[in-house]
Amino acid sequence: MFDYEDDAFEIDSNQGTGDTFADVLSRRLNRRGLIKAAATVGAIGAGFAVTGPKLVSATPVAEAAGRVGLLGFAPISLDAGPDPVVAQGYRVLPFLRWGDPLTADAPDFDSTKQSAAAQARQVGYNCDWIGFLPLPAGSKSSDHGLLVVNHEYTNPELMFADYMAPNPAYAEAGGETEEPEYLVAPTQVHVDIELEAHGISVVEIRRGADNVWEVVRDSPYNRRITGTTVVELSGPAAGADLLRTAEDPDGLQVIGTLNNCAGGITPWGTIVSAEENFHQYFGMFDALDPGTPGYAIHERYGMPEGSSDRRWEEFYERFNVTKSPNEAFRFGWPVEVDPYDPSSTPRKLTALGRNRHEAHTSVVAPEGQVVIYSGDDQRFEYAYKFVTAGTYDPDDRTANAALLDDGTLYVARFDDDGTGEWLPLTFGEGPLTSENGWNSQADVLINTRGAADLLGATKMDRPEDFETNPVTGKVYLVLTNNNQRLLDDIDRANPRPQNLHGHVIEITEAGGDHASTTFAWDIFLLAGDPAQGSTWFAGFPTDAVSPFSAPDNITFDLDGNMWISTDGMPSNLPGNDGLFVVPTEGAERGHVQQFFSSVPGAEVSGPEFSPDNTALFVSIQHPGEGGSFAEPISNWPDGGDMPPRPTVVLIERDGNPITAPEA
Ligand code: FEO
Ligand code: CA
Ligand code: CA
Repeated sequence: MFDYEDDAFEIDSNQGTGDTFADVLSRRLNRRGLIKAAATVGAIGAGFAVTGPKLVSATPVAEAAGRVGLLGFAPISLDAGPDPVVAQGYRVLPFLRWGDPLTADAPDFDSTKQSAAAQARQVGYNCDWIGFLPLPAGSKSSDHGLLVVNHEYTNPELMFADYMAPNPAYAEAGGETEEPEYLVAPTQVHVDIELEAHGISVVEIRRGADNVWEVVRDSPYNRRITGTTVVELSGPAAGADLLRTAEDPDGLQVIGTLNNCAGGITPWGTIVSAEENFHQYFGMFDALDPGTPGYAIHERYGMPEGSSDRRWEEFYERFNVTKSPNEAFRFGWPVEVDPYDPSSTPRKLTALGRNRHEAHTSVVAPEGQVVIYSGDDQRFEYAYKFVTAGTYDPDDRTANAALLDDGTLYVARFDDDGTGEWLPLTFGEGPLTSENGWNSQADVLINTRGAADLLGATKMDRPEDFETNPVTGKVYLVLTNNNQRLLDDIDRANPRPQNLHGHVIEITEAGGDHASTTFAWDIFLLAGDPAQGSTWFAGFPTDAVSPFSAPDNITFDLDGNMWISTDGMPSNLPGNDGLFVVPTEGAERGHVQQFFSSVPGAEVSGPEFSPDNTALFVSIQHPGEGGSFAEPISNWPDGGDMPPRPTVVLIERDGNPITAPEA
């Protein structure tokens, strides 16, 4: 493993310093060196405001600081066992499983009798982001609400007994071959079930007097949005030429939402669901005529060559890029859904740009604009924020309905002096002009990545979650990892070559104003095992922290502590993916402690507290990934002969707040 304190590693001359990597990093990590920089853009202050259902507290910073760090549990150790582990004193219960029925007429889950019609009325596969929206709407109820859950993708090799077929070439060679023993053999039935297993679930849940949480089956709110639900395109790119297809000549309606990964809740109680790795659903790009309009944009977005892994293009022409060259432009957007109105039509928000979207938690700026931070999760991609043109009206919910259709999309440049700038992705500004081939804001939004390239934004180590701490107003950008960053590629915001473990950047917007165009930043955490070196935990003694890797999703509790779920830890540390908590302020700032460990093959995603923090919902996504239906590596949570089932778990402490100090 690379050791950043090894003086043998010299900064490449293009860094212009001649310093060793250790010199640069130690300066960058010296917080005193940043005080001056932070002061020049203004300190955070009372100016920030956050509102909406997710909203936890208007607790002043000073008052909250008294409890920060008093987490009331003893950390667990890395665990690679078959079952989830949570810190002593807490309970973890499987709460919402793939296939659980959501309507009175939905069948119970039966892995031998799956159908698209059943799946459309059952909880989808691979739970990811979770939102808790209180009932009644606008309240802070922690006993009753809607759980909104994204379903990122499917693992057909784990879902279906008959998805893998023996490879004749393997049998012929008697096993003496490099050929795989099994080949995928998708059928129309598989593909149609997979389409219904994608998307979003809205589920009414309620806690009884006995403190037991239940799903309200057959609630009028219960709803599935899937790969076949009609979704409107809205905002500046709606109707653009590149969004038109033979099936939708106006470019205004898409069939389905796919790869819904992270998400967020708006102040008016809608949710924004991020379409991430949309490219993987499209096949045959290598056969597309390079003269086709938008060809270069497909290239920039990494459209795969040949067949897609799922081979949906063999069943639906819209997934074949040669047959429907524009269909892929209709994915890779954030999707706004109103869970409180089951008859509402979801909308793809083109104003927020197109990429492999992540995050989308909202914050209200001092002047009332709504600000949404988002990541583009691929190595060397960018961090974004969107600032609405209009302002949030807390007294008129419908007045906010179109807020996310009009505003400014920015991309971040992190400068080596600890400051940074939000660069506007606005048609007609800077290089985004007709002379350079940009003819409208729609052009900029459909090719957000290409526009950000021209502005000189900073290429990051897989920007995933990007959220405001509601207690302090500071913003945190979570960078999962980047094993392809070379020593020549490092900069001070992405300071580790071969960044196997990922890191977290802390951003302070100028004047505490989330709508500001300048900011100060610092490295908050460099993840990893401190015993192996090259880690940083905001200056906290490294011998006292829990090792962790691949930070992916974050949320904050009422005290402003950050909860971090991981995706990919087993590749680099000997434990299943887990959930970690770290205070962001006070004497315990940087003290990372492991709270929860998941199961083999799974990532942990979407941690979400109920408003009073007595319930913590967490997604165990793709348990058993790496195995197959016939040869499982996990059968959690049902055990026996059941396939593993992606499941939202509920973590509780007998109705007491999760983070309260022990009595
Ligand atoms: Fe779906 Fe970037 O995680
Ligand atoms: Ca994720
Ligand atoms: Ca992931």
